[in-house]
Parts: sequence; C-alpha cells; structure tokens
Amino acid sequence: MKGIILAGGSGTRLHPITIPVSKQLLPVGDKPMIYYPLSVLMFAGIREVLVIARPADLPMFQTLLRDGAQWGLRITYAEQPQPRGIAEALLIGAGHIDGDECALILGDNIFHGNAFSQLLHRESRQLHGCTLFGYRVNDPQRYGIGVTDPEGRLVAIDEKPSHPRSNRAITGLYFYDSDAVDIAKNLRPSARGELEITDVNNVYLSRGLARLVDLGRGFAWLDTGTPEALLQAGQYVRTLEERQGVRIACLEEIALRMGFIDAEACHALGATMANSNYGRYVMSIARELAA
Ligand code: TTP
Repeated sequence: MKGIILAGGSGTRLHPITIPVSKQLLPVGDKPMIYYPLSVLMFAGIREVLVIARPADLPMFQTLLRDGAQWGLRITYAEQPQPRGIAEALLIGAGHIDGDECALILGDNIFHGNAFSQLLHRESRQLHGCTLFGYRVNDPQRYGIGVTDPEGRLVAIDEKPSHPRSNRAITGLYFYDSDAVDIAKNLRPSARGELEITDVNNVYLSRGLARLVDLGRGFAWLDTGTPEALLQAGQYVRTLEERQGVRIACLEEIALRMGFIDAEACHALGATMANSNYGRYVMSIARELAA
C-alpha cells in the first residue's frame, strides 16, 4: 500500500499566519503538523509516501522531511498548484500509486488513540474497496457524515446535513483499493469547482464496497483549521506528553518501533537535535529500546 499526504490548500481560516507558510508546517506542540499524518501512515506499515503541497511550500517540506531514508521511508513530492479538491490527490499521485492500494491522509488531520497501529494494520490487510474512518462529533452539520447498516457497511454519506442521520463524521484518512485512480479520472468538478473525495467514496458506496470503521470514544481526532483549534491541538498533545513522558508522532521512535531503522540510527538522529527536548527524547528512547 502506498501513502499520500495531501498538504496543500489555502489555509484561509488561519490568515495571516498561512500567507507565507503552509498550514501543515505550523507547530502542533513541539513538532510540525505534518509529522502527525506521516506518523499515521508509518503506523499502517507504509514506507512509500508522496507529499503533495503548493509549489511555493514544497522546498520547505523537502528541507524538513528529505527523502525519508532517515526514517526508513521513501518520500517523494508533487505539486498541487491550486486547491482543486481532495480527490485531485489521486490524479496527482497516480504514478506514485502505480496500480497499488493507497492510503490518503489530509495533512492537517491529527489522530491519536490506543492500539491505532493494530487497527490500521488490520484494516489495510482486509481492504476491499474503500475504508473510511468515522468519528463521533457533536456538530455533525459541519462534516460529511456516514450512515451505516449493522454490518458497518456504508449506506449513505450526507454532506453537511442540516438534519443529521448520524453523528459519525468521516475523517481525513481514506484507504482505497487499486480502482481509486480510475474512479477519480471520471469525476467532474462540483459546484464549488473541486474534485470531491465524497464523489469517489460514493462510487465505492454504490458498488457496495465502502466500509466505515468507527474510531471509538478513546480516540482523539483533532482539528487544526482555526487559530483556536490549532492552539487546542497543541495543548492536547503537550498535556499528554508531559503527563506520560511519551511523545505523540515522534517519527524517529515510530520508525524504530516499526523496525524501519535500528536503535543506533535512531540515537544518531536524536543527537543531531540534542539541544531540544525532542532530540533528547529520541536519544533516550533509542537507549531504552536497545537495552
Ligand atoms: P480545508 O480545511 O478544506 O482547506 P484549507 O486547509 O485550505 O483551509 P481553509 O478552509 O482555512 O482555507 O482542507 C483540508 C485539508 O486538505 C488541508 O490539509 C488542506 C488539504 N487540501 C489540499 O491540499 N488540497 C485541496 O485541494 C483541498 C480542498 C484541501
């Protein structure tokens, strides 16, 4: 399975912060936002990742993430000149996907929860069609909402419904089989001029091949789209990290735990950042797991 992080968009709700810099490079706690979606792909066992961003932002992503080899990954880059819709990621990424299955994640989505890695592994192994991830919210009118039958099969997706039939928002993580690119090729832009990911999902739904997996109440799915939400997400991350002494979305630690790099390489990565608490944490985890 290939991974795609869609990290373009205009970030207008965060203006003026996002006039010169991509939203997905802004800090959430002590690390850049894009670390969080990248950690999700790594937890799913994915090692080939395409990062899609605005042309002007791409060099900064490349400076930050490089070719991914330091984490045992292969990271490549592509431009999305205009935010023409989430489904455009499947067209931009067609060569990267290359007939494989893919996991598409939005660069501003933060997930955190117990046994997430096992859940992602299980779902990627049993993928048949598309798998979406639902999260209970108290303001379903703001989201695409999934309505399911008792087997968990999606029966409808309601976009920003004024009278919601369910409170399960569809989050920004999508698993697709190898048909997704062809489906995206046949899309027409919506009234707002975007290639809608909901239209891709609706094709799978009409084939009876769309599944909605519930992220339980023990999960966090955090918003980062406004200054308040961004601050709250950072505070959530720091509160957990300080209380537990562990880190969320520490890529070096995840690479080590997933077996993508060894403890020595992990320690060396931490040593390059030894002046920060993050770097010292990476070194201490490398020592702990080597022991
Ligand atoms: P949005 O939150 O819908 O849009 P945005 O990030 O541009 O912000 P704003 O509403 O404040 O203007 O996008 C969700 C995520 O998807 C975000 O990470 C940006 C990304 N995205 C793209 O990269 N390209 C696109 O064409 C679209 C629609 C979104």
